[in-house]
Amino acid sequence: MVDTQWTHTTVLLQESIDAAVTDPNGTYIDATYGRGGHSRLLLSKLSPSGRLIAFDRDHEAVANAQTLVASDPRFSIRHAAFSAMADIAPASITGILMDLGISSPQVDDAARGFSFMRDGPLDMRMDASRGQSVAEWLSTATTARMAEVIHDYGEERHARLIATAITSSREKKIPLERTTDLAKIVASTIHGREAGQHPATRTFQAFRIFINDELGELDRALAAAPDLLCAQGRLAVISFHSLEDRRVKQFIAAHSKEMFDPRSPQSLMRSTESKLKLKDLGRIKPSAAEVKANPRSRSAVLRVAERTAFNRERAS
Ligand SMILES: C[S@@+](CC[C@H](N)C(=O)[O-])C[C@H]1O[C@@H](n2cnc3c(N)ncnc32)[C@H](O)[C@@H]1O
Repeated sequence: MVDTQWTHTTVLLQESIDAAVTDPNGTYIDATYGRGGHSRLLLSKLSPSGRLIAFDRDHEAVANAQTLVASDPRFSIRHAAFSAMADIAPASITGILMDLGISSPQVDDAARGFSFMRDGPLDMRMDASRGQSVAEWLSTATTARMAEVIHDYGEERHARLIATAITSSREKKIPLERTTDLAKIVASTIHGREAGQHPATRTFQAFRIFINDELGELDRALAAAPDLLCAQGRLAVISFHSLEDRRVKQFIAAHSKEMFDPRSPQSLMRSTESKLKLKDLGRIKPSAAEVKANPRSRSAVLRVAERTAFNRERAS
């Protein structure tokens, strides 16, 4: 269904656009179009010769963007995973914005299967035209693999218990096709860790991250970003949980600091030869006013880095 009834409140809107846009004539990437909150503000900062290339792997997001495609010749969108940005010409991009995770319309539409609060097919794919749904994957996954996914991507300490309960339901032929089927199995196995948190919160997060290969996508896009950016181009990434934010933080650190291991002469050699491609411009959290107006923003962290001049090597 092409939505009109679901909206998304854009997080860290002004802060991220201020950080990402440095040249009104530049070419920018919005890696996560969603409902276009960032794209529209970004376009308002560009001159007639500026360009914005957006990505989203959700076909409803891409359908939503068609009005903007038709009305603004500076804007285009690709129905693709954002790791495909690696195909864009090197040094041709002035700023890259990534607003990770899922949009409110994806969570709010029960038919997408992202929410344990709403009964729907247990799907959770951002791009429902490819890959396996969570229900399909769970029908064959081993207990050990399920436990690993729940532990690694949900940081759930009861991962083994939950995986065992899923396998046991499967063996008893208890249906596991709907979001509520999974939510019930988890709720009958463990208590939530934090007060007010549904026991299935971490399990749903884990399966969503796994089924969409969200961390692999992030790693591939980050790896491509420095070479896509022109000198002084900006990378701005908004994360919503520590698994993502840690990766972004470590990636920026690895490309902006000399990594020196005093025990290893090899390390000194490597660090002397390495080119520092990024300058860390720090992190920004939502204001108290934003968190009050949009509680979903409370876990958001924006990290910003700038592309250094080309071939800058450590003076030695
Ligand atoms: C948090 S929402 C972005 C909201 C958007 N900034 C706005 O203001 O409306 C994240 C969007 O990114 C998309 N997305 C997430 N991971 C993606 C990936 N690896 N490739 C392409 N799109 C992705 C999701 O489908 C979703 O529409």
